[in-house]
Amino acid sequence: MDQIDIIKPDDWHVHFRDSDILKAVLPETSRHFARAIVMPNLIPPILNENDALQYKKRIENAIPKNDDFNPFMTIYLTEKTKKNELKYAHKNGAVFAVKLYPAGATTNSASGVKDIKKIMPILETMAEIKMPLLIHGEMTDQQIDIFDREKIFIEKKLDFICKELPELKITLEHITTKEATTYINEGNKNLAASITPHHLSLNRNAIFVGGIRPHNYCLPILKRETHRKALIDMATSGNSKFFLGTDTAPHLKGDKESECGCAGIFNATYCMSILAEIFDQNNSLDNLESFTSLNGSNHYGLKPNSKKIRLLKRKYPITFIDRIKVKKQSIIVFKPDFPVFWEVV
Ligand code: DOR
Ligand code: ZN
Repeated sequence: MDQIDIIKPDDWHVHFRDSDILKAVLPETSRHFARAIVMPNLIPPILNENDALQYKKRIENAIPKNDDFNPFMTIYLTEKTKKNELKYAHKNGAVFAVKLYPAGATTNSASGVKDIKKIMPILETMAEIKMPLLIHGEMTDQQIDIFDREKIFIEKKLDFICKELPELKITLEHITTKEATTYINEGNKNLAASITPHHLSLNRNAIFVGGIRPHNYCLPILKRETHRKALIDMATSGNSKFFLGTDTAPHLKGDKESECGCAGIFNATYCMSILAEIFDQNNSLDNLESFTSLNGSNHYGLKPNSKKIRLLKRKYPITFIDRIKVKKQSIIVFKPDFPVFWEVV
């Protein structure tokens, strides 16, 4: 097969940032995706409906004229989030979902949640009003090995939330381990997971090829090859509990190539090409549409998009641009370590 048409995809996890970075990166998403869930970890974070509405306006102003793109806004959950505010913001459509960052787990997560028990009343309300909870699933205890933080979070925190509130719609975001694929697969019907193109493309060796590779540093950190294979098996299987959330996370080049480099991989530009290549290599092109365009909207109770996109397999590998400009600075564009023949036309 060297041509496929699929329903226009959605990206259920993006970081757009703000100001000049927002303007530079947004077209990379709106070119191929119809909808996206926008992360709230700005500085300062998006804490309430008003913040979300203002941010949404700035995003809408950055959408290129010809792109038909719809951002879905989120609120950053803290131990001070007010139940009634959430209810109201969800009911009037301003805010789609709530993001739970364990405090200190990742970029700009300092105001996140320290004690999950403290937010259980809010999660109860969310279950009642059917507002999705998006989780960065990693332990923050620095004593825990960085490669085990997702697995232990599932055992110690996620399992507790799921058992207390089986009616709550939960997305465990950007999963990276075999344990996560098993837990989600066997979990209740309201539990699903998103997977990124970089965790499908690379294993942890990619962080250390001949030296430290800051542009392959993200959180949750890349894992062993056995885990990457488990993610590939699930993503390409068509299983409706797994869908695309790119976690495209732009940082300026200098902020990544630094003494204490930021976590995050900017993958929006070639995301669909890379996924088509991976699904093709795994003889699963028939399931690409489920992963990118159906399973996520189904989990969130939304209709799939009506438009389509076409992907073509070229005779020679495509050439990647290596950066996008942000005024005088730049953001490095994610490129996998295998040739990619597919292109969106
Ligand atoms: O690698 C990451 N970057 N992981 C996250 O969870 C946050 C993100 C960011 O905001 O840069
Ligand atoms: Zn993210």
